[in-house]
Amino acid sequence: MRKIKVFDTTLRDGEQSPGCSMNLSEKLQIAKQLDALGVDIIEAGFAIASPEDFKSVEAIARTVKSCQVASLARCTQGDIDAAWNAVKDAKYPRIHIFLAASDIHMEYKLKMTREQVLESIAKHVSYAKALCADLEFSCEDASRSDRDFLVKCCGTAIEAGATVINIPDTVGYSTPQEMFELIRYLREYTPGIENVDISAHCHDDLGLAVANSLACVRAGASQVECTINGIGERAGNASLEELVMALHTRREYYQAETRVNTRQIYRTSKLLSSVTGVPVAPSKAIVGANAFAHESGIHQHGVLANALTYEILRPADVGIPQNAMVLGKHSGKHALRDRLAQLGYEVTKEELDAIFVRFKALADKKKNLTDSDIEALALASSHSGSATYELLGHVVSAGTGITNLACVKIRRDDGVAEEAAIGSGPIDASFKAVDKITGLAVSLESFSLNAVTDGEDAMGEAVVKLRCGGGLYTGCGLSTDVIESAIRAYINGINKAVGAKY
Ligand code: KIV
Ligand code: ZN
Repeated sequence: MRKIKVFDTTLRDGEQSPGCSMNLSEKLQIAKQLDALGVDIIEAGFAIASPEDFKSVEAIARTVKSCQVASLARCTQGDIDAAWNAVKDAKYPRIHIFLAASDIHMEYKLKMTREQVLESIAKHVSYAKALCADLEFSCEDASRSDRDFLVKCCGTAIEAGATVINIPDTVGYSTPQEMFELIRYLREYTPGIENVDISAHCHDDLGLAVANSLACVRAGASQVECTINGIGERAGNASLEELVMALHTRREYYQAETRVNTRQIYRTSKLLSSVTGVPVAPSKAIVGANAFAHESGIHQHGVLANALTYEILRPADVGIPQNAMVLGKHSGKHALRDRLAQLGYEVTKEELDAIFVRFKALADKKKNLTDSDIEALALASSHSGSATYELLGHVVSAGTGITNLACVKIRRDDGVAEEAAIGSGPIDASFKAVDKITGLAVSLESFSLNAVTDGEDAMGEAVVKLRCGGGLYTGCGLSTDVIESAIRAYINGINKAVGAKY
């Protein structure tokens, strides 16, 4: 079996999608999980873009231990220097340089001739090679570029020291057959291409990103670029979970496999959507809530008789908790830690203590706690961070035709504070009461509420996006009481703003 390298660009191309921006600690959290997932390369960001981007790439490079860490750079010395300075402390650093090769990009965006583009590639790839041995070069808009010119660009980059040649379908225009033929063409005519990795980077504007990437693998590509949940510019990038599971499920057909630990997929997807507040569509392949749900009677009958009638992969293969009734109010910390470990969560003593407190509170409200409950608690605690404000209690008086009133009790650095406020509804009133306590000017940009576990006593997860001092922060809160979830989410967002010194 050929080994296909998985290059994850959730933190760079993925972060470019609306609503998906993350702060440094959120990016670090995702990067650690990508490391546990077993991707080969993490593209941690675009170091020159801003001081925050630089710091995030640098922090990821210094933290992640198993996989390579890359930073994107345009074909300029300034970009390459910033990329190198950000990744140089990584165990396995990589610089990823790109320059467009299509006529339309060269004429209208770059305002460069073909000769100038070739000169720039030769100059900047060799400049970067002197800094970093592992060097990826991307011909932006490759799928709409003149093939023979593309051959020249790739050949020039290889001669100057590139170790990976990436072929992006930047605008998601290509078809699988075209991508297959393009990779075959490059393999046939580009000098030295047999000595480097060929990579596919496909966008999903026509819904073909995964199919196009798989066609490239069949044509000989040895690296695929993708994002968790398929997030990314416009319609997104090829989705990591779909690519990895397609290769896993059909490995005999593709004669290729990845090193990804598929059982970490669901957890990674959940973590990303709870950190960004961007939910996964229920019908999304592999990680959507309905991806394994059989609704029709004919299907249910078939699955009960033999799961293989309608199931090509099992929920457990991607790490979806099986919802066995596991723990209750009499269970102790050991049982909780064991269950967390079985679900893939290795927690420190402090984290376990914090989850245990929430576990006991939940067990007082729910008789049986399922794997989904335990997972939701673990995820909630993983993004709680350091807390300046902590919710101690709340009460609301709400309804139609009367004033909606909320009273909130919060612990803060200087003790316990309690405030009441009225609002257009119980949640609005609660947020106003919190504002009175913090004294901060906070504006709520979005609010969503979803059931994250099953049954009548399901837990509701609230996600807020709030603006504070110019920054945008995502907060998440979890409880069986949806008002409490909302207040927790609001306070979580405020704690992040305070932590970032907004
Ligand atoms: O889509 C694209 O062309 C890119 C490059 C920067 C690799 O994201
Ligand atoms: Zn892209």
